[in-house]
Amino acid sequence: MSDKNYNPIQVDLKTDRRYSWCTCSFSNEQPFCDGSHKANKATPPMVFEVKEDREAWLCTCKETNTPPYCDGSHNN
Ligand code: FES
Repeated sequence: MSDKNYNPIQVDLKTDRRYSWCTCSFSNEQPFCDGSHKANKATPPMVFEVKEDREAWLCTCKETNTPPYCDGSHNN
């Protein structure tokens, strides 16, 4: 692992948007994709939407079993 922060990040999610959650860890815009996977030939982002406006903790360690949401796996 690098020296990136692997704690979840709290975000406000809105119904009128599509989000791209970084799956590869190379993004400098965690927890979202910044396109870095292309240069690194890494996995593409997971695109998702929400059914209602909500706060959420998004995973940055990429070990979660409930992507894009943190499930506490970063503590393992
Ligand atoms: S940051 Fe919590 S499971 Fe990945």
